[in-house]
Amino acid sequence: MLGCLVLGWVPVSMGSLTSSSSAFSSSSTSSATTRVSASSFGDPTMYEAFWREAGERAAAVIPGWWGMSYFSNAGGLCWYLEPELEREVRRVHRLVGNAMADGYHLVVGTGTTQLFQAAMYALAPTSTDRPVGVVSPAPYYSTDLLLSGYYRWAGDANAFHGDHGGENIELVVSPNNPDGAIREAVLSSDSGKGKAIHDLVYYWPQYTPITSPAAHDIMLFTMSKLSGHGGTRLGWALVKDSDVAKKMVYFVYGSTIGVSKDSQLRAAKILGVVSDAYEPGPGDGTQLRLFDFARRRTGERWRALHAAVAATGTFSLPDEITGYCNFTKQTVAAYPAFAWLRCYKDGVEDCAEFLRGHGIVARGGEQFGGDARCVRVNMMDRDAVFNVLIQRLSSIT
Ligand SMILES: *[C@@H]1O[C@H](CO)[C@@H](O)[C@H](O)[C@H]1NC(C)=O
Repeated sequence: MLGCLVLGWVPVSMGSLTSSSSAFSSSSTSSATTRVSASSFGDPTMYEAFWREAGERAAAVIPGWWGMSYFSNAGGLCWYLEPELEREVRRVHRLVGNAMADGYHLVVGTGTTQLFQAAMYALAPTSTDRPVGVVSPAPYYSTDLLLSGYYRWAGDANAFHGDHGGENIELVVSPNNPDGAIREAVLSSDSGKGKAIHDLVYYWPQYTPITSPAAHDIMLFTMSKLSGHGGTRLGWALVKDSDVAKKMVYFVYGSTIGVSKDSQLRAAKILGVVSDAYEPGPGDGTQLRLFDFARRRTGERWRALHAAVAATGTFSLPDEITGYCNFTKQTVAAYPAFAWLRCYKDGVEDCAEFLRGHGIVARGGEQFGGDARCVRVNMMDRDAVFNVLIQRLSSIT
């Protein structure tokens, strides 16, 4: 979630991609092994095809007079939250069964990036004069954007087990970024030693079996990973404690005075389309189902990646996780949004550098507190980009 240069495999001949994607810049353009540098935030552009197909049904129209006030729900705890968005967020959680939404406060933010900061602000003790440590077990997602005097990045949570260190805030990312592992808090199990923020942005049925509704103190979600709308910059937190929720709202007030109502309305519309397709109603039966679409695509991609990896004999992937999904009512494999690829070639200590030599720009494992022989691969890019990745990977011997 925090800004980082992820990974991009960009076709040498980018054609129409260049015009629609200014994030890509090609440094040179000729031979098959030309290295093309791309900066990407793990953009979930795979979903574009789905929403193009959905067409008008998913369009949000906003009249000029609408949503002009700072306030949406002046009497509510989260006073800038649009009631329609609140309804749709609670509805999609009830539909999928991935989190307890009833009995929780809903705090909306400009992406989970802001909610992360808000949650850390809310949990950090204000009485001490040194910043509270923020930890996560390796491999963990980039945490170099902790912009506050209240907290500082303290590293691998496993190092804080037992008697080391004092109070810490633990980030529990499950399924984990970068390796897709299902995680539980390491520190909060030691009594009183840690407060946890659960980042559940990938806990949706296209990525992992939904085993039960999560019910942690603070749970973060985002449109970006649910439906692909990263550009809408809309995330939410389900928060058990009202004082923590109020502090988070105060943080959002202090940094952006609420969250764009235009974005909230659009998100409400998108979530409504997602839920409608799974509920009996006046639909014509041909409505597209987002989770089915995404599972099909990611399943195909994982199979292609496994085949490419098997063909080269140079790489390995984490073992596939399977489980019973209470949403699809089937035993299914997890299809993480990122692949955590390990290089096994003799003499290769730095997998990212090795791949760069083959025209693949990857984010190296040491940036996640892990092994330099690993890289993180974005599985959610557009088809054209993903296909070039598979081609280039397959040609490595
Ligand atoms: C599974 O889903 C059903 C509704 O379809 C629900 O009643 C039940 O509590 C769920 N079980 C778990 C473990 O989430």
